[in-house]
Amino acid sequence: MKLLKEELQRDQTLEVDQETLNRIGADYIFSRPSAGEPEFRQLFEELHQEKIGHTWKKYPLLDIGNLANVISEENKKRPTQFFFFYAQKGNQASLMGAATIAESICNSFQYKGFPVLSRCYIRRAYRNNRLYTPMLVMRIEYCEQMYGDELKAIHLGTSNIRVLKSALSNAFQNFKLVGNEVLDCGKYREIIFDFLRFSPSYQESCMTRLPEIDPLLGDYFKKVLNNSLSSAEAMAFKEKLKIHSDQPIAAELSCLLDKIGITQIDESLIEQDLKDIIFAHRED
Ligand SMILES: CC(C)(COP(=O)(O)OP(=O)(O)OC[C@H]1O[C@@H](n2cnc3c(N)ncnc32)[C@H](O)[C@@H]1OP(=O)(O)O)[C@@H](O)C(=O)NCCC(=O)NCCS
Repeated sequence: MKLLKEELQRDQTLEVDQETLNRIGADYIFSRPSAGEPEFRQLFEELHQEKIGHTWKKYPLLDIGNLANVISEENKKRPTQFFFFYAQKGNQASLMGAATIAESICNSFQYKGFPVLSRCYIRRAYRNNRLYTPMLVMRIEYCEQMYGDELKAIHLGTSNIRVLKSALSNAFQNFKLVGNEVLDCGKYREIIFDFLRFSPSYQESCMTRLPEIDPLLGDYFKKVLNNSLSSAEAMAFKEKLKIHSDQPIAAELSCLLDKIGITQIDESLIEQDLKDIIFAHRED
């Protein structure tokens, strides 16, 4: 991955409409690859106080060095680029959120071109302003720019209704449901919806190669593209890919779904409002 390119080290202005900027009292919003420890501590304290399924909750609130610790813990799992989002007013920049792009699902996943968008957090004072989508779009564009032709599919996993809406409702995002995982959040377990945003060329390769390998693989992939793959079918798709893992495209997809942790869930446990969003985006 070329994420360490020079331009990543610069501040980048996000596309946010004037009405939103007026509402939150900002001249503009920008992302920066680093943050100061005191401002990060404020964000991190808020995050710890919330009952949310966010991985950073697992990292302790320290007296000093919280940011360095979070960066170090995240990079133990996989190389990760951090983005900090600021609202600029006059000469004052206030930290409003954070998010990451990881190079792969985990260090043991050896295939290239499958980055992961994760850890998005917007501080409460800035929520409900439709800022999540520009933060997501900006990271997608980074992946496209940094990986170029080597980009295959971007992974995003969530149980958050707003993230789901953004990922599914906007044409540019174009994320496709590939199954569910169950996330251990300490005291409780959460059902996560897992999506891939295929690059056009990789989608084309999947549409051509998978049915050649096995017609059933082609059928499952069509369901992926239609957002209509059930949990049971996601498992069957994963297993079929594994059987054909002598074929490179099946091997990498099988490994990806395995490392994501795609598992069979009881779909009756999914809350109705989440189901409504997913079903509303089924195309068949
Ligand atoms: C998840 C999070 C980043 C979303 O930010 P937000 O400010 O709450 O949400 P936004 O106002 O940007 O809205 C996002 C989408 O939700 C929908 N939405 C917006 N307002 C809504 C409302 N009042 N009711 C229902 N849906 C709404 C829209 O589809 C919107 O997307 P769009 O702007 O492209 O139309 C934020 O709530 C957060 O940090 N939560 C805690 C951490 C967390 O759960 N992170 C997710 C990890 S995957």
